[in-house]
Amino acid sequence: GLKVVTIGGGSSYTPELVEGFIKRYEDVPIRELWLVDIPEGKEKLEIVGSLAKRMVEKAGIPMKIHLTLDRREALKDADFVTTQLRVGLLNARVLDERIPLKYGVIGQETNGPGGLFKGLRTIPVILDICKDIEELCPNAWLINFTNPAGMVTEAVLRYSRIEKVVGLCNVPVGMKMSIAQLLGVESQRVHIDFAGLNHMVFGLNVYLDGVKVTDRVIDLLTSGDSSGVTMKNIIDMGWEKEFIRALGILPCPYHRYYYQTSKMLQHELEEANTVGTRAEVVKKVEAELFELYKDPELAIKPPQLEQRGGAYYSDAACNLIQSIYNDRKDIQPVNVRNNGAIASIPAESAVEVNCIITKDGPKPIAVGDLPVPVRGLVQQIKSFERVAAEAAVTGSYQTALLAMTINPLVPSDTVAKQILDEMLQAHRAYLPQF
Ligand code: G6P
Ligand code: MN
Ligand code: MN
Repeated sequence: GLKVVTIGGGSSYTPELVEGFIKRYEDVPIRELWLVDIPEGKEKLEIVGSLAKRMVEKAGIPMKIHLTLDRREALKDADFVTTQLRVGLLNARVLDERIPLKYGVIGQETNGPGGLFKGLRTIPVILDICKDIEELCPNAWLINFTNPAGMVTEAVLRYSRIEKVVGLCNVPVGMKMSIAQLLGVESQRVHIDFAGLNHMVFGLNVYLDGVKVTDRVIDLLTSGDSSGVTMKNIIDMGWEKEFIRALGILPCPYHRYYYQTSKMLQHELEEANTVGTRAEVVKKVEAELFELYKDPELAIKPPQLEQRGGAYYSDAACNLIQSIYNDRKDIQPVNVRNNGAIASIPAESAVEVNCIITKDGPKPIAVGDLPVPVRGLVQQIKSFERVAAEAAVTGSYQTALLAMTINPLVPSDTVAKQILDEMLQAHRAYLPQF
């Protein structure tokens, strides 16, 4: 049987993952699931861990759930390690979202200054986990959901000795489901050629039963006030019709931060002054979720979890594990070393691209160059991720300032420095490298 270790096991998302493992138990017999957290997360770990145990018991499968604060004990001889941690918890995310807004810059936890700081806090922790993996379970696959997933995967590829790493996101799954809905068909009939970076991925072509329907989908995307393709955490104000038609490929919901910057900033400012930033909203959703989780009668994933932006991420995770374990050789969009699949991105960098999933890991499918109109932005974000990862590892102030300044959402060197200084101060407890 397999041993799976989930670091950040006390996350409110864990029932999502457990549901996915239960559904696929016949194909992927996980005998041990170890949920690991830190002392501050002990209470949440116990609540969500008890729910996980009830879910498994109700399903009647022999999967043993272990709860622990001892990461090293958990990692021993693991087959798969998943990471879903949040350094500094949601309070740190509130700062990531609020501080940039004071300077008229989008505060977002994975894009812009928020993403930079989430990376600075997270990358050292992930690299530490990599060292433990090297020592305690060198053959394990590391499956990372921790955001910013693209930057984190880049950091693991460049600064650790772990080769078996895959970054995951639910954006591609979400886009596929939304497009199937727009077309009014079952999502299994839809195929999308995904390529780009995490939260910067494009659908280069869409197929229905193997027939190209990209133009029809682009018409559907631009026919209403909203595009119909979004995530719970990102407002959908629709696209400028002629822009998307000219682009001729499908942007992801996160592209709105770059192509609709002022509109999105305006919206974030309004929210911050009324309902609160996304992190503040999520705090309430989480508190409600944990109240539900405490109910000893509850033994399923509650539907309220779908209010979170990461809804259905377990499909991505479990499908990936299933295909690696069973050598299924199906196609899935994941974050891996580019290896030349996207010509305009360095071979050694992480990209989010369709891959054939084998026992030996994901094999990226070559797409050639990205279309000229998007190539530059994708390269710029990749440069941002690389410089940010370097700053996270070295603790260099100048490198961090460079990352902040080259981010397309930051308007100037001076504003970059102001935001950087305030955020370094606010997050200092979680940035020992600076
Ligand atoms: C999307 C992204 C995830 C992100 C989530 C945020 O699903 O793909 O990477 O974590 O949104 O959702 P939340 O409910 O926390 O705002
Ligand atoms: Mn994501
Ligand atoms: Mn320093």
